[in-house]
Amino acid sequence: MVIFGASGDLTKRKLMPALYSLYREKRLGGEFYILGIGRTNYSDEGFRSYILREMKEFLNPADLEEETMAAFADRLRYLPMDPSKDEGYPELRKRIVELSGAERPDNLLFYLATPPVLYGVVPLHLKKVGLNTPHARIIVEKPFGYDLKSAQELNQIYASVFDESQVYRIDHFLGKETAQNVLALRFANGVFEPLWNRNYIDYVEVTAVENLGIEERGGYYDASGALRDMVQNHLIQLVALTAMEPPAVFNADNFRNEVLKVYESLTPLTEEDFQEHIVRGQYTASEHRKGYREEKGVAPESRTETYIAMKLGISNWRWAGVPFYIRTGKQMPTKVTEIVVHFKPTPHQMFHAAGGEAPKANALVIRIQPNEGFVLKTDMKTPGAGFDVQQVSMDFTYGQLGGVPAGDAYARLIDDCIQGDPTLFTRGDAVEASWRFFTPVLDYWKQNPDVSLYGYPAGTWGPKESEAMTREHGAEWTNPCKNLTNTDQYCEL
Ligand SMILES: NC(=O)c1ccc[n+]([C@@H]2O[C@H](COP(=O)([O-])OP(=O)(O)OC[C@H]3O[C@@H](n4cnc5c(N)ncnc54)[C@H](OP(=O)(O)O)[C@@H]3O)[C@@H](O)[C@H]2O)c1
Repeated sequence: MVIFGASGDLTKRKLMPALYSLYREKRLGGEFYILGIGRTNYSDEGFRSYILREMKEFLNPADLEEETMAAFADRLRYLPMDPSKDEGYPELRKRIVELSGAERPDNLLFYLATPPVLYGVVPLHLKKVGLNTPHARIIVEKPFGYDLKSAQELNQIYASVFDESQVYRIDHFLGKETAQNVLALRFANGVFEPLWNRNYIDYVEVTAVENLGIEERGGYYDASGALRDMVQNHLIQLVALTAMEPPAVFNADNFRNEVLKVYESLTPLTEEDFQEHIVRGQYTASEHRKGYREEKGVAPESRTETYIAMKLGISNWRWAGVPFYIRTGKQMPTKVTEIVVHFKPTPHQMFHAAGGEAPKANALVIRIQPNEGFVLKTDMKTPGAGFDVQQVSMDFTYGQLGGVPAGDAYARLIDDCIQGDPTLFTRGDAVEASWRFFTPVLDYWKQNPDVSLYGYPAGTWGPKESEAMTREHGAEWTNPCKNLTNTDQYCEL
């Protein structure tokens, strides 16, 4: 396995802990080596001690087994080179030949963990030195392109070097046990399927927010923003899992065909949508937290969105007329990713008509993280006189099944790639379909630089304007911003 960008954040934080956990579980069978590539000048030994040091920080203390870690580190090698220049590639080939002991090595996995500018460059260099062998695979980190045109160009480059079956576009959201469980919940339970359509579902909410800012990623984030960073990939995948048709046979191609069909059925956005159904926000300073514009690497007048809420439609028989409200944001009150399916209320509310409390409509909350599990909200009679009803929750948490496995999404996905299973990786046509849908939003913002951007104090649930968007349908976010204090700090930027 060759990791480009091996001196970087992703490698130490995610890839090495994931590879170590696969090693412990004996899933990296036989002879294998991990060759790190970067411009930083490590020796093999220097790279090993750097990785061992970092793993101590990023591994669960329970997984720190000195002997196993040393044996794992023994498999690490490093080659200092600039992956953007072709000079280093003959040496890379030589190292691979030495390590594999084969004149024509073919059991190769390349991982692109570099900044995205190199995603289109490295494969061409690999091709020049003949490392695009028939069984080689390449994992490419997100973001795959920054709009439709760049994604198409990248796809063309990859198609000129590898077969599509060798290209694994990773998005670690799909590696999460609980994201996959959306499929099990929907397709292994007969009870939901008859209700899973526009006749019974009123609206769907998809939320993926975090209580952190942009950390050290100011340079990247300021040029990217929430739509590119989260919506075009993570959120839309959760929409696809919620909305897709069941594949006739569960395999990689069928599953990915159904995902693609959802993307292709998204109702194209109009000028009215750009203005009324997309809310952009940016966090401002609050008591103990910095504002976005004070972060390192961020332009002082930046108009990059750190929050976005959108209303989407899916134009097909199952979903016509059902709004999907999606939102993501940095510096929110908590970290949570969840899908909430809101069912329609009962057609006639007889208890309410007789003077009792109005029942609330049923909702199914699918918790992707944390507190992984799901909650079904139902109405029950309040004990005592009269016929008041109140909403109660039926909870399932993953703890009841022994917990979410410790090996995280990256371990699962790297293992899948090694096994040659691309199900949970994004296919080239799906990346393009997603960009085809979202690029008009980026174009609109570019053509209208003064499009509204609302400030929200760091640590709150985002701009109030996102409430108005849902109210149009009589809908409400599960965590609305109306409960907040200090609302005077909201302002248009
Ligand atoms: N970090 C995360 O948690 C995370 C999560 C999801 C996706 N990703 C994606 O994964 C990729 C890697 O992320 P990262 O955070 O590890 O990035 P990073 O730390 O900024 O970069 C990784 C390495 O790439 C090399 N590099 C940087 N600029 C270069 C250039 N212009 N030319 C050649 N090499 C260069 C650097 O190594 P040398 O200086 O040694 O060459 C650096 O250590 C990114 O595309 C990111 O979007 C990251």
